[in-house]
Amino acid sequence: MREQVDLWTEHAPLAPSQGVADSRAAAAAADTLDALRAALSAFEGCALKQTATNLVFADGNPDADVMILGEAPGAEEDRRGVPFVGASGQLMDRMLAAIGLDRDSVYISNILFWRPPGNRNPTTAEVAACMPFVQRHIELVRPKALVFVGGASAKAMLDRTEGIMRLRGKWYDYHGPGLDRSIPALATFHPAYLLRSPGQKRAAWHDLLLLKTRLEEMS
Ligand code: URA
Repeated sequence: MREQVDLWTEHAPLAPSQGVADSRAAAAAADTLDALRAALSAFEGCALKQTATNLVFADGNPDADVMILGEAPGAEEDRRGVPFVGASGQLMDRMLAAIGLDRDSVYISNILFWRPPGNRNPTTAEVAACMPFVQRHIELVRPKALVFVGGASAKAMLDRTEGIMRLRGKWYDYHGPGLDRSIPALATFHPAYLLRSPGQKRAAWHDLLLLKTRLEEMS
């Protein structure tokens, strides 16, 4: 905790609450995805930007029915400026392919737009600073379904305290501040966790089938 406070103080010119106020205003003013990306490029309220190489905004099809939100870019994503292109992204692609999806039929982003140094866990302040942009991102894409991969994403987006073991494999109603209707949201394991714990792939397959079934019901 102490280390997190020091990290914020050292890198950020703004107090955390000021960062969140600024991100709310900047995100709300963005009417298109290009404008949102530009607003993030200009945003100085998240300390992670100072150590990252690139902004990692999104990949895939913004008109897709499904929007996937991971946690934060890793080294490869930071290098290329594209989410989920490293080892866990390759597993995610294989998982999506197993239910007939690919990067033309999903839209992919993260709850953080810059890589935490050394892939450390993001601080509460960093997640809070990015959250208005994530919420606006969802509003602009208006997907038919959301998938939160990993505990950090599921907990932050659903405002829950339980871990991913409890949250995964269920549908929730995501209520964004600027949405006039809720969006069905599924929580599932992060592919990086599945790479470390392949025994959980069976449970992840169950979650993927939930997504497949829901998309079939919607179409
Ligand atoms: N892990 C994530 O959560 N997001 C990425 O973009 C890459 C790895």
